[in-house]
Amino acid sequence: MSRVVIIGAGGHAQVIADILWRMRDAGLDVLPVAYLDDNAALHGQAFLDVPVVGAVDQLGQVEHEAVIVAIGNGRIRQKLFLGLQAQGVQFAVARHPTAVIAPDVQIGPGTMICANVVVNTGAVIGQNVILNTACTVDHHNCIGNHAHIAPGAHLGGDVQVGEGTLVGIGAVVLPQRRLGDWSTVGGGAVVVKDVVAGTTAVRYHTG
Ligand SMILES: CC(C)(COP(=O)(O)OP(=O)(O)OC[C@H]1O[C@@H](n2cnc3c(N)ncnc32)[C@H](O)[C@@H]1OP(=O)(O)O)[C@@H](O)C(=O)NCCC(=O)NCCS
Repeated sequence: MSRVVIIGAGGHAQVIADILWRMRDAGLDVLPVAYLDDNAALHGQAFLDVPVVGAVDQLGQVEHEAVIVAIGNGRIRQKLFLGLQAQGVQFAVARHPTAVIAPDVQIGPGTMICANVVVNTGAVIGQNVILNTACTVDHHNCIGNHAHIAPGAHLGGDVQVGEGTLVGIGAVVLPQRRLGDWSTVGGGAVVVKDVVAGTTAVRYHTG
């Protein structure tokens, strides 16, 4: 049995718990056993039948086979993931059973794939990535580590998304565009030109 500890206990973490339960319902050997969160006010509470048992540094006290970092903020998610990875922690992939993913797609450890996501052939998804609800990632995309493709965003073919980049809710990225590391695409934007690393693109982004 693969017992999974969820790092974080907020709304995003609860979506991950739900995905893990849906995976279990689908017959996969996955069991969400606990949340760990540094907010002591949450300790002793439970969400979706999963208890918040303590702070992140108490991971060693919870029996588990795998961990998933469930924090929306990219910088914090990266920091926690890399810290745990350096300790030799094994990471789960949370993949909702309704996601449609081509068989050759590569998915890195710790990545979360929500309901109704579509990922087409040749795509490479990095580690600790969020593919949020109903986004689509078309053929031969390359999604960098710690990136977040928000709900309903659509990426055309051959798009490259840099490390830590956020593609906001409902955004559209035309084929073959490059989004630099830690860039941000605003909700509803249409990306027509490449986005420079560390910058924010909104509305009709023409570079
Ligand atoms: C683009 C974004 C990053 C800007 O955030 P911000 O730096 O805090 O900027 P502000 O909210 O102060 O807005 C600055 C200006 O940009 C405008 N703006 C903000 N977001 C915009 C968007 N998505 N499209 C168009 N204009 C936008 C604001 O109206 C404001 O305009 P003004 O100066 O004329 O008043 C943010 O609004 C956004 O879209 N984030 C994506 C969130 C998301 O999808 N998260 C994932 C959820 S699961």
